[in-house]
Amino acid sequence: MNKRLTWLPFLTEDIPASLVTPEQIARFELEQALPKLAPGKTAQLTIVDAMEEGCTIQQHGDVLSISGGKVGVLYGAYKLLMSLATGHPLPEGDQQPRYGLRMLNCWDNASGDIERGYSGRSLFFENGKFDYDPARMRQLGRMLASVGLNVMCINNVNVRYPADQLIESWLPELAELAAIFRPFGVKLMVSIDYSAPMRHGVPTADPLDKQVQAWWTKQAEIVYQAVPDLAGFLVKADSEGRPGPFTYGRNHAEGANMLARALKPFGGKLVWRCFVYNCRQDWRDTTTDRPKAAYEHYAYLDGQFEDNVILQIKNGPFDFQVREPVSPLLYAMPKTNLAMEFQLAQEYTGQQVDIYAMPPMWREVYDDMPADKVMSIAAVTNLGRDENYTGHPFAAVNLFGYGLFAWDPDLQPEKIIRLWTRLTYGMDQLSEDTLVNLLMGSRRTYEKYTAPLGLCWMVSPNHHYGPSPSGYEYQAWGTYHKADRDAVGIDRTASGTGYLLQYPEEFQKLYGTPETCPDLLKLFFHRLRYDYVMSDGRTMIQRIYDDHFEGLEETRTMAETLKALPLPSPDKEEALERMERQLVNAREWCDITNTFFRRYSGIEDAHGRTIYR
Ligand code: GCU
Repeated sequence: MNKRLTWLPFLTEDIPASLVTPEQIARFELEQALPKLAPGKTAQLTIVDAMEEGCTIQQHGDVLSISGGKVGVLYGAYKLLMSLATGHPLPEGDQQPRYGLRMLNCWDNASGDIERGYSGRSLFFENGKFDYDPARMRQLGRMLASVGLNVMCINNVNVRYPADQLIESWLPELAELAAIFRPFGVKLMVSIDYSAPMRHGVPTADPLDKQVQAWWTKQAEIVYQAVPDLAGFLVKADSEGRPGPFTYGRNHAEGANMLARALKPFGGKLVWRCFVYNCRQDWRDTTTDRPKAAYEHYAYLDGQFEDNVILQIKNGPFDFQVREPVSPLLYAMPKTNLAMEFQLAQEYTGQQVDIYAMPPMWREVYDDMPADKVMSIAAVTNLGRDENYTGHPFAAVNLFGYGLFAWDPDLQPEKIIRLWTRLTYGMDQLSEDTLVNLLMGSRRTYEKYTAPLGLCWMVSPNHHYGPSPSGYEYQAWGTYHKADRDAVGIDRTASGTGYLLQYPEEFQKLYGTPETCPDLLKLFFHRLRYDYVMSDGRTMIQRIYDDHFEGLEETRTMAETLKALPLPSPDKEEALERMERQLVNAREWCDITNTFFRRYSGIEDAHGRTIYR
């Protein structure tokens, strides 16, 4: 069994299967770690049911006391140990998570592969069935609890046979897995196929059909008999070819409510994804603008959802691109339970080859989203069967940071990254500072060589690694930049596609003119001429060239920095091997993108650097 746990290196003992409550696990963790981290000190746990997930930590002489709810004491134990391990003061006052559901969405298929997975095969499935190492599951439970995550959806939102059996013939196995995660305060969730009743003699999946409703009601009963604390169902409907209520002329409130009513008696949640858009768009059609889609499908339904429905909305209006504005739908549904969805899996962000620490990006999203409207947080996981769980050893900072932010969205990214770095590597101060800086800057560097000024989708189609400036240009996915010899970008203002009008006024003002729009989103909202003069006096085309050359240069510097860092084996070798690939990738992106724009615009680089013909 793998014992490497990046940010908890002081927990080296496997968690025995005999421990079945969070309190028992908390005691076990404290017993093994306190002698190493705080010799002479002892811990005292007090369960206060009413505190639920919350906890308080106090020190009286040599006694460290944790009070908390049933799960709260476990969170308290990890918080305490992390503080001791990093030399930080103990967290003060009442610790409460800001968001109710702090979810991981695994896109694991029953076959064992993972959709957009970059860390090896599934931790749960292989060959069309459950296949996991229970000790490793407990290790995973420990990781999730240590950063406060409390729900894990174990299968891909694109549910394909035989994963549909998760709520049918695989219930005993699902119950076994749920029992492993329960002591960690982690509830399981499953993705379901909207058309499931049709495989059981029901002629339709129409949510208003009585037989359909009866099938789901009965099925929910069966599921909850097996797993009484299942968190609920996750649904991708009418999205990228998945079945859904549109087939029957029903809207998504009708579609979701039917399932929600079936789950309600058992306290289950129905998490319904809002990733709905026309993925068969004709590129000639200029009236459809994909970022508008989610708002158009959902905003008018505000207030019509059952109270156990949670709409899960991707952080941006497209699809986890390097830089997008916050989704306007988050502002448009004040009477509906909303969850924000992030993607830890680095689909468009370097695929766990290129270094891309996400906390700085999330800080921007949390700053822009309506803090009081979003109640839950979800993220597509970056985990897999690789020895270190995340492929690139540094990708673990994203799981770690995701959990910490979901607990406390006011945190600063540098604090999170430093905490992870110190816990994981415990290096001297200078090396720690160096790695923290490298990680803090990694997203901006990646952005510089891949996503100029908010232009999205210049990426190789399908697998999404590497440059292809026009790869998505004439495709059906609604992803166009429309570069020609004079200009690039889509006008999304009122005089263009009108996407801007979906935002509250303050955003409309900010993004509404090229002058007020932040540089890094200018080409998301505006179509600009190459000779448009940016706020710093450079032309837009020069800014694109400069960013690409800088991105490549920064990657080269990063590679040198990495070589000099005293990282332990095998992290060092793994990081260096991936860095070789990142260097190749950055060079391809830089040269291909610059050549692309040079060919269209006919404008030379003002500094005479090499742009290939
Ligand atoms: C992206 C991704 C798909 C995924 C989809 C989703 O489009 O490429 O693999 O299924 O998002 O979020 O459902």
